[in-house]
Amino acid sequence: MKKSLTIHNEATYEEIADVVLMPGDPLRAKFIAKKFLKSPKCFNKIRNMLGYTGTYKDKQVSVMGSGMGMPSMGIYSYELYNFYDVKKIIRIGTAGSITENLSLRDLVVVMGACSNSNFINQFSLKGTFAPIASYNLLNKAVNCAKDKKINFMIGNVFTSDYFYGENEDTVNSWKKMGVLAFEMETAALYINAAAAQKEALCLLTISDSLLTGESISPSLREESFTEMMEIALCCVN
Ligand code: HPA
Repeated sequence: MKKSLTIHNEATYEEIADVVLMPGDPLRAKFIAKKFLKSPKCFNKIRNMLGYTGTYKDKQVSVMGSGMGMPSMGIYSYELYNFYDVKKIIRIGTAGSITENLSLRDLVVVMGACSNSNFINQFSLKGTFAPIASYNLLNKAVNCAKDKKINFMIGNVFTSDYFYGENEDTVNSWKKMGVLAFEMETAALYINAAAAQKEALCLLTISDSLLTGESISPSLREESFTEMMEIALCCVN
């Protein structure tokens, strides 16, 4: 019988590749596997947090949903790094812009992640910790985005514990510090990568603006998602 390594993931050690792409939505993971990977095989169905492994340009690549928020991303990325010995995780998600310099569909290559969560407290550090991307992955993504002439910014985001209830004061105070966008998972991923001494990167498409309230249509969301996927796949080798 197949032996699960964790209670949230029924994959065997061999079934997951060294590099995992993580959208928030597990159905998105299924879509990516079918569209971009050759011979994808499903390795997890627990809680419908679908995960697949296939090949991209002859390299094994996995794709798995992270769920929403830091606790969910925290669990799945921890298990991938520490039980399955995954080396690189690339989150591909969406974010709400808090700067006029980012339009809907633009890309953020996330260098660092501020947060209002307590996730970092588990390490009892006497000071603050700056969760940052792998420079190796970030550099590859930036070169690829330049080659493809995609509109992008590199910088800080705010990983929030709230989707509802962010008020103008919160947005303005982070905006004044040069933070580009709000989302809900990156800080957990970057912290887990640091603790496990592994690599992580987040690529985020701007899906809405917290300044104007506008949001992207489903068809444009699809198109910009494909662009972001192509950049993520540049980083897997
Ligand atoms: N807030 C938090 N997370 C998000 C948002 C947002 O506006 N848009 C996409 N993810």
